[in-house]
Amino acid sequence: MKVHEPYVLFEDDKHKFIWLGLDESENEKGILTNQYLIVHENKGYLIDPGGYFVFERVYNNMRKFVEPENVVAILYSHQDPDVIGSLNIIIDMVPNAKVYASALWERFLPHLGVDFKGRFVDIPDEGMMIDFIKAVPAHFMHSPGNFHYYDTYAKIYFSGDLGAVAYRDKWYLIVENFEEHAKLMESFHRRYIASRKAIDIWLKKIEGLDIRIIAPQHGSIFEGENVKKFINWLKSLDKTGLDLME
Ligand SMILES: [Fe+2]
Ligand SMILES: [Fe+2]
Repeated sequence: MKVHEPYVLFEDDKHKFIWLGLDESENEKGILTNQYLIVHENKGYLIDPGGYFVFERVYNNMRKFVEPENVVAILYSHQDPDVIGSLNIIIDMVPNAKVYASALWERFLPHLGVDFKGRFVDIPDEGMMIDFIKAVPAHFMHSPGNFHYYDTYAKIYFSGDLGAVAYRDKWYLIVENFEEHAKLMESFHRRYIASRKAIDIWLKKIEGLDIRIIAPQHGSIFEGENVKKFINWLKSLDKTGLDLME
C-alpha cells in the first residue's frame, strides 16, 4: 500500500493550494478522501479536513506548510462523517480557526461533542465570501445544505462530493483519460445527486467563473481540458437521484 506525499496544485510567492496526501491503506477503513489546504500570505484555510482516521495524516502534512495557530478557517462542504469526523479533535489543534458550514448544520454538529466557543460561522443559503474564497451554493449535490469553495486567486474549484469516485482498486490523483474516468463516476452521481434540477441550478451559479482546476473530495483532480469535459459530462446526466426513484 502506497503512501502519497502532499502535492502542490498552485504556487506563487504568496499563495499555495495543496492536496494533503493519502495513504492507500485508508481504503481498508472507509472510502478514500481528499483534503486540501490553502496558504495565503502565511494564513491557512483547511478544506474538508475529513474523518477521524485520516486526522493524523492530514494534520502532519498540514504542518509542513503552515503553523497550526496560523490556520484561520476550516471550510466544510457538508455534514457527512467523511468530511467532519475529525472536527472535535481539530477544533483544539487549530485554536484560532473559525469553522464555516451551511447554517443548516449548526445545531447538528455539536452532537460530535464539539464546543465551538463562538467559532462557528453560518454560511447562508446564497453563499458568501471568506476573504478571497467564494462559498458557492451547491445544495442537494448531494447534501441539502452544501457548499463548494472557489479559490479566486489560484482559480481552483473545490467541488465537494461532486466528481467523486469510490475507488475499489486502482487510485490515481490526476485524471488523464476522461472518458474512462467518467465510467467510474457515473454510479455515484446517478444515486447521490438529488435530482437533475440540482445540477441545472448549480450550473447557473458557476457561470462566468474562470476555473483552471476542479478538485473533488473523493476521486481524482480535473485539470485543463478535463475541467470543461467534466462540466459537459454533468450536463449530459439526464436523470439523477429522485428522477430515478420509483
Ligand atoms: Fe457526502
Ligand atoms: Fe464525501
